[in-house]
Amino acid sequence: NDVSLREKSIVMIGFMGVGKTTIGKAVAKRLYRDFIDIDEEIEKKFNMPTSDIFTLYGEMIFRETEKEIIVQSCKQKLKIISVGGGAFLQEEIRNACLSDCIVFFLDMSWDNWKDRISLLIDSRPVLQGKNIKQIEELFNERQPIYSEHHSRVMTDNLVVDEVADYIVESLK
Ligand code: S3P
Repeated sequence: NDVSLREKSIVMIGFMGVGKTTIGKAVAKRLYRDFIDIDEEIEKKFNMPTSDIFTLYGEMIFRETEKEIIVQSCKQKLKIISVGGGAFLQEEIRNACLSDCIVFFLDMSWDNWKDRISLLIDSRPVLQGKNIKQIEELFNERQPIYSEHHSRVMTDNLVVDEVADYIVESLK
């Protein structure tokens, strides 16, 4: 498309709870850009937390809204955008992000990630009712959808500022 590489928005993808929002905000601050958190936009639209959207409207409605908001947001220039961990399940979202934006995959090993479960379980409906083995299966099943990206950062052993610095450097 006609947006120059320097002006393209940057999209953070990866499994839930890897730090897409925190790192996205840190990158936005460094680049003096606006930050868009897609989950937050969806929650604003419904005026309720994600877990309530899943319960009251169902996952299909959540995914449809997620798609609409991401496709619109991707068309904007100079944004930093964090998308939910399930967004890349949808081909239309993958295509929109990969063609309009620069996509960073925030990767993390299962061994590091598993310590975060207790912090995430209350706010992440897709984890609820699953045991640790089933969550590990979901983690592994999701990896292939994130393999479609422009750049990958292995975040194990890195703090937020280090990941953000790495991303900003790699854009130069
Ligand atoms: C989801 C991830 C969540 C949120 C929703 C569904 C998923 O976003 O979009 O709970 O299917 O992986 P985070 O990746 O920001 O946790």
